[in-house]
Amino acid sequence: MKGKLCILMRFFFLHASFFTLVLGSNVSYDGRSLIIDGQRKLLISASIHYPRSVPAMWPGLVKAAKEGGVDVIETYVFWNGHELSPGNYYFGGRFNLVKFAKIVQQAGMYLILRIGPFVAAEWNYGGVPVWLHYIPGTVFRTYNEPFMVENEYGYYESSYGEGGKKYAQWAAKMAVAQNTGVPWIMCQQWDAPDPVIDTCNSFYCDQFKPTSPNRPKIWTENWPGWFKTFGGRDPHRPAEDVAYAVARFFQKGGSVHNYYMYHGGTNFGRTAGGPFITTSYDYDAPIDEYGLPRLPKWGHLKELHKAIKLCESVLLNGKSVNISLGPSVEADVYTDSSGACAAFIANVDDKNDKTVEFRNASYHLPAWSVSILPDCKNVVFNTAKVTSHVNVVAMVPEKLRQLGKHVKWDVFKENAGIWGQADFVKNGFVDHINTTKDTTDYLWQTTSILVDENEEFLKKGSKPVLLIESKGHALHAFVNLEYQGTGTGNGTHSPFNFTNPVSLRAGKNEIALLSLAVGLPTAGPFYEFVGAGVTSVKIKGLNNGTIDLSSHAWSYKIGVQGEHLQIYQEDGLNNVKWTSSSKPPKRQPLTWYKAIVDAPPGDEPVGLDMLHMGKGLAWLNGEEIGRYWPRISEFKKEDCVQECDYRGKFDPDKCDTGCGEPTQKWYHVPRSWFKPSGNILVFFEEKGGDPTKIRFVRREVSGACALVAEDYPSVRFHSQGDDKVENNKNTPLAHVMCPGDTIISAIKFASFGNPSGTCGSYLKGDCHDPNSNTVVEKACLNKKECAIDLTEENFKTNLCPGLSRKLAVEAICR
Ligand code: GAL
Repeated sequence: MKGKLCILMRFFFLHASFFTLVLGSNVSYDGRSLIIDGQRKLLISASIHYPRSVPAMWPGLVKAAKEGGVDVIETYVFWNGHELSPGNYYFGGRFNLVKFAKIVQQAGMYLILRIGPFVAAEWNYGGVPVWLHYIPGTVFRTYNEPFMVENEYGYYESSYGEGGKKYAQWAAKMAVAQNTGVPWIMCQQWDAPDPVIDTCNSFYCDQFKPTSPNRPKIWTENWPGWFKTFGGRDPHRPAEDVAYAVARFFQKGGSVHNYYMYHGGTNFGRTAGGPFITTSYDYDAPIDEYGLPRLPKWGHLKELHKAIKLCESVLLNGKSVNISLGPSVEADVYTDSSGACAAFIANVDDKNDKTVEFRNASYHLPAWSVSILPDCKNVVFNTAKVTSHVNVVAMVPEKLRQLGKHVKWDVFKENAGIWGQADFVKNGFVDHINTTKDTTDYLWQTTSILVDENEEFLKKGSKPVLLIESKGHALHAFVNLEYQGTGTGNGTHSPFNFTNPVSLRAGKNEIALLSLAVGLPTAGPFYEFVGAGVTSVKIKGLNNGTIDLSSHAWSYKIGVQGEHLQIYQEDGLNNVKWTSSSKPPKRQPLTWYKAIVDAPPGDEPVGLDMLHMGKGLAWLNGEEIGRYWPRISEFKKEDCVQECDYRGKFDPDKCDTGCGEPTQKWYHVPRSWFKPSGNILVFFEEKGGDPTKIRFVRREVSGACALVAEDYPSVRFHSQGDDKVENNKNTPLAHVMCPGDTIISAIKFASFGNPSGTCGSYLKGDCHDPNSNTVVEKACLNKKECAIDLTEENFKTNLCPGLSRKLAVEAICR
């Protein structure tokens, strides 16, 4: 903000109260860039969504972004977190947008506010309040009076026909008419009318051109990773490819670039969209879910940002020529009248390295990489050569005294069926979402059947089969109060069939289904009409064959009792009678557990290990941790990779891990939610688990690594941040840095030669300089950070001739 607030609004919005943030002036644009206070600006922006962390984390996250070379923080505004029911506003806690904006301002950064209200974002219902759907006559995302709000509309406009077109134009005019004094953007909106700027969202935007040459080239969403679903895989986007995409964008005339996400964070409570978006929204982003820089990604991008910034003035104010340097290699050279020159040389071949001549010098470019030469001579950065240090990060389990053995547990069991009075009785089924209106994940529906004592299966001792069809998302089935099993859709296909043998007895049998929503849809044409819930129930294997219970009288009850009585809140704890026990019962469905726990020692971020639980919701001191579900990923081993080749176009299925493993084992519990002792941990377990195995885990950085090869470039700056490249030395540096207050207490591994492996498991090769340890210890011991030069002064020059040598270091941080 720097005294003013740059609001580039992603799209439109209804609520005048939000406009109090619009303080900006002097922000305009031309065909090259945004112009702030009369100057063209090259901006690196980072998405950090305020409700996906907690206020106590905001200053640290913004600081880490600034240190990472970011100028702008970008966030959506999450309407459904701010207007809980019509006219009932909330701007406290994680939704304190004003506080968040001020923290950005205090850091001397700009803010891009994407006001939504439709935001997508894997956020429940795409950010639009569910109650809006129930205002008669409302249709989202088209020319419809009760709605009229938007985001990334271009993809869907045609689905809404004439109403879509008319709506997009209306939205643009309405936004511009607010006279905010700052430019407006519409992402993925090919018909955005002037002066609104259309922008790009993709994994690559170098080829993007705004629809008018008078608009700057803006990339609103570069996805440095991807989100996860319960049952899905763990996507990773290599740092080399993210850097490649960014460098290509600036090479080809881009001027504003935003990482979506830079910190993904956590979908606390029931804010995750769906169906099946995980509680973690880590996104493989440059800052991890817990708020720690993800290395080497964060560090590599930091170096990239430095290199790009060295070129800012000539990029924005100079002229450019494009030169082909051979097949798949091109240079874009920017020069200005002062004699400044900057060049980006790209090798877009996704397999082969290339060596090219440029201005009488020879340059080696790894496949799928961009070299940045801020003076048209020296390569200060190549996107494929990662020189950033790496951390040794582990989730360290806490001793049992935190939870388990000596903890006193209180237990409350829910009824397996309707509790209290049914809300209504109906022949047949209702839509789950239309019924709960998302006030809860849960909807009970029960019916009963009479089984004749002459049924064959009773004599044979066999079991009839319960057949259920559901349009989504999940359900637990109970017969005569006994849990029978769980049916669920998956990330790509929400409808499912549940087929399970069930124990029936002669006489009356109670069938109780707990239908579940696991996050509401977040995008797609007419997404607000996509329903969920049971559509057919049959029982097969009776004397009469199959009986259909679908048009039976079903009793319905919205929610479960403990949730209704808010027994996870301090003032609701006594609303039920808990049973105390030193050993909590295991494998109990529909059970509430309460334990009083100490805060884990130290100040590292904390997670809750829920691997041994089934599925449910968790709270600490009344704060909503979120949905837990260590659901095993249904992908086969071969759908994941051992190693990821950064070369070539990325897509979210390219570099996945976690096949056949639990999708989310750890759940972030922000430090600021803990008191030193007497913390109340409550969870509602739906289908049964082992609470004695729950642990707190601390996200601990115990070491730091560096791996740098001799032919790697290295950006060197004057300490004042002078924007010139220091040209006296250009040998690579290996950086090692310990986090927080820790220092390098020992060197666990150091080898200059041809070491192999990755941080935490480096191995010496057949080429090794025996002085490696001494050199590194001298440079690093007892320091917070150090940089080791790969020069002849430090290492043997005649070692293994003909080999490209590298230095690998692993340090212990204490
Ligand atoms: C975009 C959308 C974002 C987010 C992203 C995927 O298309 O604008 O809100 O959903 O996809 O993470």
